[in-house]
Order: sequence, then C-alpha cells, then structure tokens
Amino acid sequence: MKTETYILLGQTLSYSADPFEVPFEDAVSVQRRGAVIVRDGKVISVGPADSVDTPEDATVIDYGDALIMAGFVDAHLHYPQTGIVASWGKRLIDWLNSYTFPEETRLNDPDYAAEIAKRYFDLALSNGTTTSLSYATIHPASVDAYFTEARSRGLRALTGKTCMDRNAPDTLRDTAQSAYDDSKALLEKWHGVDRLEYVITPRFSPTSTPEQLSALGALWAEHPDCLMQTHISEQHEEIAWVKDLFPDARDYLDTYETHGLLGSRAVFGHAIHLTEREEARLRDVGAGLVHCPTSNTFIGSGIFEMARMKAQGQRVGLATDTGGGSSFSMLRTMAAAYELSQLKGTPLHPAQLMWLATCGSAEVLHLGEKIGNLAAGMEADLLVLDLASTPAIEQRSKRAGDIWEAVFPTIMMGDDRATKAVWVGGQPAKI
Ligand code: GUN
Ligand code: ZN
Repeated sequence: MKTETYILLGQTLSYSADPFEVPFEDAVSVQRRGAVIVRDGKVISVGPADSVDTPEDATVIDYGDALIMAGFVDAHLHYPQTGIVASWGKRLIDWLNSYTFPEETRLNDPDYAAEIAKRYFDLALSNGTTTSLSYATIHPASVDAYFTEARSRGLRALTGKTCMDRNAPDTLRDTAQSAYDDSKALLEKWHGVDRLEYVITPRFSPTSTPEQLSALGALWAEHPDCLMQTHISEQHEEIAWVKDLFPDARDYLDTYETHGLLGSRAVFGHAIHLTEREEARLRDVGAGLVHCPTSNTFIGSGIFEMARMKAQGQRVGLATDTGGGSSFSMLRTMAAAYELSQLKGTPLHPAQLMWLATCGSAEVLHLGEKIGNLAAGMEADLLVLDLASTPAIEQRSKRAGDIWEAVFPTIMMGDDRATKAVWVGGQPAKI
C-alpha cells in the first residue's frame, strides 16, 4: 500500500531544550515560514519551507500564518467529571462528596461511560489536546469506554481504574483485593494495545486503606513499565486528614512511599503544599508533578510554586484537572498558570508555558521521546493554532514584534476557536 506524504506549511514551533534550564531563545526553534513533512504517522522533518525537498506525490497543505506545533498533552484530568465541570461553591472534600462521587457513580452504566468518553474526546480534540492522562472511575467499564473511544480515534491515551476502598460511597468502593485484580485484568487487556497505556491509579491516600495501597504497590512492582498516578497535597484540610488517617507516616508522600507507590514513573497531581523533605524526595526519585492551575483557583487550593520547583530540578507538567479544573482548554490552563506565576512574582514566559503544555507534560508521562515536540522522528500528533482567532486577539497579535508577542494573546484569550486543525498519528482529525 502506498503511504501518503504530507507537507504542512506555516509557522513552526519546536524545542531543543527546557526553557527553564537555558534562556528560551536557546531552547526554541521557530520558522516563520516552515515546512513539516509527515509520513507513516511520524514527523519526517521540520525546516524552512524554501529549502524543503518536495516529494513529487506529496499532499501540500498551507496553513498560512498559523502556528504548527505539537498537540497539547494534558497530564492529569478526570474524564468522568466532564458532565459536572464548573460546579459551584465547594472546597475539595465537599466538592468530591457533593458533585464528583454522585456523577462518578453514574459511570457504572457502560452506555453512559461510553457517551461521556466520546464527549470528553470531542472536547479535548477541539481544544488541541492529542494526549490525555485521565482517571477513570472505580468501574472497569469506565476504563474500557475511555480506551475504546481513544483507540477508535487513533489517539495516544492513558488511564486507569480509580481505586477507593474507604471514605467514598458504597457504590464507589472496591476492596484491596478487587482493586488489585481488576487493575491487573485491565492492565493485561489494554496496556500497549495500539497507542494505549494503562496507569495504576489509587485516587489518593484518604480513599485507600493501607492494604489497598500495598496491593497497588505490589501490582506496580510486577509491572514497573506502567505509570502510577495519584493526588498529593492539594488542600490543607486534605493534608490534615491524611495525618489523622496515617498517624505513623512522616508526611503525605510517606503514605505512598511506604506502600511501594513512589518512583520516577509516579505522577502526582497538584503537589502544592509540600514539605522540604517531600520536595527533596520527589526530586531525588525523579517523580512527576502536575500543575493544575484552573483547578487550584477554582477549588481554592493554593498556588503551585512553579519557579521554585523547576529551579529545584523537579519534573513538572501541566494539566486541566477537568472537572476540578474549570476548562478543557490547555490555552486557558496556560493563562491560569501565567496568572498564578504573576501572583508569585515570577511570570512565566510564553515559551515556558508552551513547553509545559507539550514537552513538560510528555516528560512527566515518560513519553518525551514520542510526543510533545515537533521534531523529526516524533509521532505526528500536531496542533495548528490560529493566532488571530477572534477580533480581540487579532487586533492584539497584529502589533506583535516577534513570535512570542504573537502567541501570548492566544494563550491568554484563546479558546477552541484557535484550533485550526489537529493531526493524530499522521492523519488530519475531525474536530
Ligand atoms: N483529590 C482526590 N480526588 C480528586 C479529584 O477528583 N479532583 C481533584 N481536584 N482532587 C482530588
Ligand atoms: Zn485530579
């Protein structure tokens, strides 16, 4: 079978280094008129359009002034909460009990789970997100629904059954043994199928007994190539609760570590109120931390110390945390991250924001060799961003003196209207 070659023309954005570690000018390559060659699901080359070798039978697609970049990577979210996004007025524990748990109970119905998975991926793709690491619910069918939908769209996607055996309604509780058995069966069914990855998923220490944490630690030890995701130190009340539930633990992180749930393939959501010991341990292990800024303001959790964490050498990604987060858009998420960084007196540069939403998140998922950057050899999951998608943005970007002045108004004011095109696995996706 002949494979099609595509040449995409437009501005291009690629990273060669982490813009928190070197000056952003040295970390980024921008072509004002670039060409991206795509074949067999991969990016073959990225370079100036005027020096590209055009294969005779290639399909050329000219995106004009739009920005061709890697698709967004959302490193922490809850697809089952799609239907309750933006629910008013509660802090974390009340928010879980009032809105989240009743909705997650509904995903016991496989048809409803399938409907929500479809709705979630429609929204994610229309916002330019091409890889998502989601929590499912405790129901194995919710994992099946997510992976089935992602697979049908050719997406690289990750999820796991959320495990809870205490402090949750009866309808949402498993046991230490069933969490192990169900997670193992799902892992064996899905992990490595096409572009899918199973992720071991204890929700957080308050909803797992030590026995359940140990069982999942044992499962992870048997499958060390899997990621493990959970939450840590999101709100002060939650941290105090963990202290009550685990009186012998040195701190919140210790509740995971003593049960075999700490390693470089661990992905910790939020990580706002860490102790010095926890920070040092997380950095030494090389675990991933995920900043969820719209969630942290929406649920009133606090401000993640991005500048300090990155200066420490932590591995950090960015995420919507839908539906604790109030948006499906990684643009909106970058805007919130910028605003929080301003409150800390350390404003993030647009090159750093874009890096967090692509390369940074991919590195937290240990997928930085495959996705999250526009470079030869990477999987062709691409976003084409319209930098003049609304009148307000257009009039601002018209004045831009450089690419970052042109991009920043879209970061701050953009939404799904800025998504001009999305490519998944080397093919144009329906958005
Ligand atoms: N902590 C435990 N579960 C959740 C959740 O669903 N959302 C958020 N934001 N925090 C959590
Ligand atoms: Zn979460």
